[in-house]
Amino acid sequence: MTATLIKNIGKIYGIHDKQFLKGSAMSFSGIIENGYIVIENDKISSFGPMDQAPENVGNVIDADGGLVMPAWCDSHTHIVYAASREGEYTLRLKGATYEEIAANGGGILNSAKRLQQTSEDDLFDSASLRLNEIMASGTGAIEIKSGYGLTTEDELKMLRVIRKLKENSPAVIKATFLGAHAIPAAYQDNRNKYIDLIINKMIPKVAGEGLADYCDVFCDKGFFTTAETDIILKSASKYGLKAKIHANELANSGGVQIGIKNKAISVDHLERIGDEEINALLSSNTIPTVLPSCSFFLNIPFAPARMMIDSGLGIALATDFNPGSSPSGNIPLLMALACNHMRLTPQETFHGVTINGAAAMEISHSLGSIFPGKIANLIITKKNTIA
Ligand code: NIG
Ligand code: FE
Repeated sequence: MTATLIKNIGKIYGIHDKQFLKGSAMSFSGIIENGYIVIENDKISSFGPMDQAPENVGNVIDADGGLVMPAWCDSHTHIVYAASREGEYTLRLKGATYEEIAANGGGILNSAKRLQQTSEDDLFDSASLRLNEIMASGTGAIEIKSGYGLTTEDELKMLRVIRKLKENSPAVIKATFLGAHAIPAAYQDNRNKYIDLIINKMIPKVAGEGLADYCDVFCDKGFFTTAETDIILKSASKYGLKAKIHANELANSGGVQIGIKNKAISVDHLERIGDEEINALLSSNTIPTVLPSCSFFLNIPFAPARMMIDSGLGIALATDFNPGSSPSGNIPLLMALACNHMRLTPQETFHGVTINGAAAMEISHSLGSIFPGKIANLIITKKNTIA
């Protein structure tokens, strides 16, 4: 394959060979001004200042002063869904809480009802449109969860849609089984029966068909208890599905600790954590992932990301794109929210959605920064006329 030279790059951002950045290292800025990058076999083979750019390279892309950076790595989304839930947004503006709407059959159960009535092809078509839209604003790698099926058949349907997205898109995609997203209406009086179904039917089928990389649980007040989460994650682990959990969004109910105990790759949300959770995370390999768009749209506290980084933690930032709590997959919006409301620096948010987001999907060896050997999954912007 012939090589490609990207020339006249105004600034190259995100140059480093690290696989995860922690604490003060998240403020590090690896920048070259007026540079070039050479790509061979889809991988970055070299970069440097423009006056050292190689000549006679087959293909040339003239960045014309634009910026080049690694594509965004969004490690937490729910982009396969059947319908938006803007009515709930209006209810919340009138004072209803996320929990109240969920308790009245709205929220996740509302999405499940709609998804169960929607064909696999239609779900694929609408999710493709969403994926293409977020790719156009710079996302190159994404984790997508099931969790709006809530029956064996419909959870498998969602995961097959994710597999088809993987097969048909240049984006790097990780799939997560989230059967434990909510107790379905039919099991409200017998939640143990639903947990048995997850453990004995769903997990073996999902793993048997190779449909997921991870197993997630919504471990929070009103959803799944820490004891239930523990049982589900342990069963998933026996089938080779690693843990990732939704924790501490609605209450400080021990989710972080149960995630760490189960060697979760990441614990996500964390709006309601304190020193105990931060200390537990500091002595683990679990990546804390914060979701500022969710706090913004639900009008709930933002995760204490400033305190987390100041304590020495590395954090990932993700959109949580879903029809309820975060109807946006827009990374630049998320970065601005994280700067304004979490008091993170632009460099910290940049690393949260590049290398650390890649780490939360276990792909930071090949994505999330600019370095020889990494996949050339890049954003090239127009010339930045302000800088
Ligand atoms: O990450 N918190 C749980 N799950 C999703 C919301 C899902 C929904 O409201 O549809 C989240 O916020
Ligand atoms: Fe989520």
